[in-house]
Amino acid sequence: MTEYRPMKCLPEKAGYRAGDYIVLVGELFGRGYANGLVEEARSIGMNVIGTTMGRRDNDGTLRPLNQVELADAEAVLGGKIINVPLEAGFDMESVDGQPSVAEQLKKVRPDEWAGVDFNDEFISKAVRSGSDRFRTNLAKVVGELDKLIPPGSNVLFSHVMAGGFPRARIFMLLLNRVFKGTGDKYLSSELFWESGIGRLCRASFDEVTADTFRYLLETTAGLRDRIAMDGGQVRYSAYGYHGTGVLVGGEYRWQSYIPYLPGWAKMRLEDIAAEASASGIQATVFNCPEIQTNSSALFLGVEISLYPLITSIRREAGEAMAAPLMRRCQDMLKEGTSLEQMLARADAYLASPVLAQLLDFAGWPQHNTSEQADLMLNSSAELMGMHVDQKRLVCAELSRIVFLATGRLMIHGSWKPEAPVVWLNHDLIARLLVDGLGKGIL
Ligand SMILES: NC(=O)c1ccc[n+]([C@@H]2O[C@H](COP(=O)([O-])OP(=O)(O)OC[C@H]3O[C@@H](n4cnc5c(N)ncnc54)[C@H](O)[C@@H]3O)[C@@H](O)[C@H]2O)c1
Repeated sequence: MTEYRPMKCLPEKAGYRAGDYIVLVGELFGRGYANGLVEEARSIGMNVIGTTMGRRDNDGTLRPLNQVELADAEAVLGGKIINVPLEAGFDMESVDGQPSVAEQLKKVRPDEWAGVDFNDEFISKAVRSGSDRFRTNLAKVVGELDKLIPPGSNVLFSHVMAGGFPRARIFMLLLNRVFKGTGDKYLSSELFWESGIGRLCRASFDEVTADTFRYLLETTAGLRDRIAMDGGQVRYSAYGYHGTGVLVGGEYRWQSYIPYLPGWAKMRLEDIAAEASASGIQATVFNCPEIQTNSSALFLGVEISLYPLITSIRREAGEAMAAPLMRRCQDMLKEGTSLEQMLARADAYLASPVLAQLLDFAGWPQHNTSEQADLMLNSSAELMGMHVDQKRLVCAELSRIVFLATGRLMIHGSWKPEAPVVWLNHDLIARLLVDGLGKGIL
């Protein structure tokens, strides 16, 4: 069990120089967390190298990006993408002539899900087949990197990928009930997680969210040695999630989104970083706050803990620095609704006894209850309802601040890591904004 270790001090400037390299292992999407890494790397003058998940053709074949997709992805990244498909996971693997997990799940009717079970041997063969494909492709990427990275360069490998929900309609139906369901639509995350389909999910999350980090450490071993022999330094970072310290009732308190089912895989990711660090590799998992991205959209309510960042910024950076942000946020609210009301509403949720009874760091991640789901989803909807336009959200503004701030903290914090697993909480993010390192974010 990882010790709760918030990063307390802002990191010193890292030793990366202009001409060094950051390699993103995971594709960059428009509002994704990794944009913060890319921005900071670019401001240092580092070369940014991206990767892609690849795409699936209609017949299920995994392929690299075509010319148009590649040009678009390179424009988003503002750098070169090594065009080898790094999709992880096994849901589309067909083994021993049997249809893939995704194919088999197509036949499952919504009322039959609880009875679905996969044979362990089939799953372990599919996992092996998926990981072999991923590692083979990763080795090709590393081969390309070896040619691209000149002697004497420092390199930061940044693991960005997380996911692993098998691609089948039945999953979307169930997940909508687990993450967004109230009343009749509510589905216990524990019931789901302990079912055959839940066990399948667990294996898939482990593979995509955690084990890809191990494959990265293993596959880059030769390149790491070569870079070190040539006088360069190699670092690894990964995005974790294990709750966040935010202001609740005026005090910083650890809290978490419930039910964060990928949490077990995120703890496995932490263990991989701890193991690597123990063997002398500088690898850090940075546990980051809840923000709105493509990936977090499913976890409705995850954004509630982002609102108190405004109060943290007022407290840590001062009223004068917070004022323009507060004006921008106030402008997004309906007439007659104040930012203070919004913050009080978010705080009422976070301070609720329902959450206090459930949340416990040692027992994380917690499963949902019907009462908690009601409370969270109603609070989320009420907070959303305070906006004039559902396309201009306070949390989108705050998400931008968080991904930019964490990008800087991760790049600089990766250089001399204080521990293999650290938490980037709201207080540190707010303090960064008044430091030279945080210049221009607000
Ligand atoms: N959004 C949040 O609230 C939050 C909080 C803490 C940590 N994180 C972590 O930040 C990281 C980036 O996520 P994000 O929220 O910016 O979302 P995102 O959707 O922008 O990024 C998700 C990444 O996962 C990759 N990915 C997904 N499925 C994959 C698969 N099967 N194979 C290979 N790659 C796959 C995508 O290519 C992309 O690079 C993730 O590790 C996520 O868990 C997110």
